[in-house]
Amino acid sequence: MTHPPLIVPSVLPADFATLGAEVEALCVAGVDRIQWDVMDGVFVPNLTFGADVIAAARRHSSVEFEAHLMVAEPDRLLENYVAAGCEIVIVHAEAATHLHRTLHRIRELGARSGVALNPHTPASVVDGVLEETDLILAMTVNPGFGGQAYIPAVERKLVELRAMIDASGLPIDLEVDGGITDTTIVTAAAAGADVFISGSWMYRHPEGKRAAVELLRERARSAHQVAVA
Ligand code: DX5
Repeated sequence: MTHPPLIVPSVLPADFATLGAEVEALCVAGVDRIQWDVMDGVFVPNLTFGADVIAAARRHSSVEFEAHLMVAEPDRLLENYVAAGCEIVIVHAEAATHLHRTLHRIRELGARSGVALNPHTPASVVDGVLEETDLILAMTVNPGFGGQAYIPAVERKLVELRAMIDASGLPIDLEVDGGITDTTIVTAAAAGADVFISGSWMYRHPEGKRAAVELLRERARSAHQVAVA
């Protein structure tokens, strides 16, 4: 791990009618970054945030934005989401015909690059692009909707990806997204993840977002300590 665990909410469960206030509340809760689940209704069945929506929310945030592009043709949208203020842009390997070129282009635009892998996509897909990548996102649900059940089988892939990243010596984040709770974060962290996306569990936590963030961070930290002991 190149840094302590990062806790990153998905905005998907937020009240879309008050996104500025929602973003401010997440920053007050102590999150490390904010993830925007961008969906085009083609790559996944749902339709969510255009770049202008994210741009409107940008001034309300004191933390970085990452755009998770669940879209069929990501190359057409890279400039829009960087211009909207996303410091990280994540594309799906399954939607990038020329993944190496796409990741390189994200960096040319001044953002950090990320590649997402659906649960069925093997770790070997990123073997040839590690030098172009700042973040690998291992989806622990099938993309398109929040509130789904965590897929434990992805942990085998997390172990593989962590070994690839450590062997490369490159400072690449290993992120998980989907069904992350105070329970599933423990085994995801033990398998090698160091960035954790949480949507529904964080928004539904009975003691509020700050307590949820602090609990997730503590569980991930202790899992990392056990893993290296
Ligand atoms: C799926 C989305 C969700 C979201 C988090 O396409 O990417 O994974 O970010 O949703 P929860 O935490 O509710 O599973």
